[in-house]
Amino acid sequence: MIQINDHYLKLQASYLFSDIAKKVAAFQENNPDKDVIKLGIGDVTNPLPAACIKAFHAAVDEMATTSGFHGYGPEQGYEFLRKAIADHDFQARGAEVAADEIFVSDGAKCDTGNIQEIFSTACRIAIPDPVYPVYLDTNVMAGRTGEYSDGRYQGIVYLDSTRENNFVPELPNESVDLIYLCFPNNPTGSTATKEQLKVWVDYARAHKALILFDAAYEAFIRDETLPHSIYEIEGAREVAIEFRSYSKSAGFTGTRCAYTVVPKECVAYDAAGNAHSLHALWNRRHCTKFNGVSYPVQKAAEAVYSEEGKAQCKALIDGYLENAKIIGAAMTELGFTYVGGDNSPYIWVWGDRDSWDFFDLLLNKAGVVCTPGAGFGKCGQGYIRISAFNSRENVEKAMERIRTALS
Ligand code: MLT
Repeated sequence: MIQINDHYLKLQASYLFSDIAKKVAAFQENNPDKDVIKLGIGDVTNPLPAACIKAFHAAVDEMATTSGFHGYGPEQGYEFLRKAIADHDFQARGAEVAADEIFVSDGAKCDTGNIQEIFSTACRIAIPDPVYPVYLDTNVMAGRTGEYSDGRYQGIVYLDSTRENNFVPELPNESVDLIYLCFPNNPTGSTATKEQLKVWVDYARAHKALILFDAAYEAFIRDETLPHSIYEIEGAREVAIEFRSYSKSAGFTGTRCAYTVVPKECVAYDAAGNAHSLHALWNRRHCTKFNGVSYPVQKAAEAVYSEEGKAQCKALIDGYLENAKIIGAAMTELGFTYVGGDNSPYIWVWGDRDSWDFFDLLLNKAGVVCTPGAGFGKCGQGYIRISAFNSRENVEKAMERIRTALS
């Protein structure tokens, strides 16, 4: 008798963004004449930067020639992209990362979801609440949790991010092995200072723990005092893996390109306490299960680091940050308090009512889609997340509609 992985039965019915998409589809079916503005899932709306498109086209043309054709590439990514990443994203900021410590992939969602495979199922996991659901769900699937009850899975150490701690969680009281952190944060938009990250790095070093640092939104940082990478923190190379993505920084959500950094110093231990290289383990996993990102996509990603590419990506992000300002100003005007939006595309609004009720109200009365905070965890109850990823015109229209609906 073929048996399922029972752990899947512990999962909540469906993935958060699929639930929302179903609700929106039902609304649209019942209200075919109403247009809906989506400020829910963080999906970019602007075209790819011209420099990326040019490189993409040129690479496709190369593929049409015998001399320029590329078959299977290196699983870890082409040297030209790995080197550009190491130089521009890390060494230029004083963070020591070498090209061969970079693993190019098709998305930070896949990487943050897959990385847990190389760790023991007995690991004690610390996960922020609220959180990007992928970190939690993939650990449920792997059997690292007990049942779900009262909004939480047994066996997980939840790191509460609340107004009291400015949405930057404190160290846990109990010892943990694997710690998920994300800054600028999804969903709250909060940021962490170097001093705050140092506390986590020191904890990980003292406890032989490991930090999984999701920096998918680092390109939105405008406050120059804030770290873009965990490797800007002394000692982090021994205890942190970092995830990055071109999805939000260069509009690659549909194009798919991201990368993970696993420094050579990073180790984890076997049951006897012997240290093993995580770089070697992740490389083994990556080569076995992944066949690389296509050549044209990696050429398009490389173009992000050209002078035109940098300027065009900055302009894209500046546009979304300007949207975030408009959303923040509308929320203040309506008497709501919020965080985020200044170094992040997400605005985390305290609605002072049930998150899903607020979501329904905005959908039904204003035709605006947000994300209910409760979908990101128990501490998200009472909040909604508004995303700045849309056109200026739609963001302005959405805020006007919310003003009318709520006044
Ligand atoms: C979000 O809306 O939280 C993100 O777009 C989801 C993702 O990047 O997978």
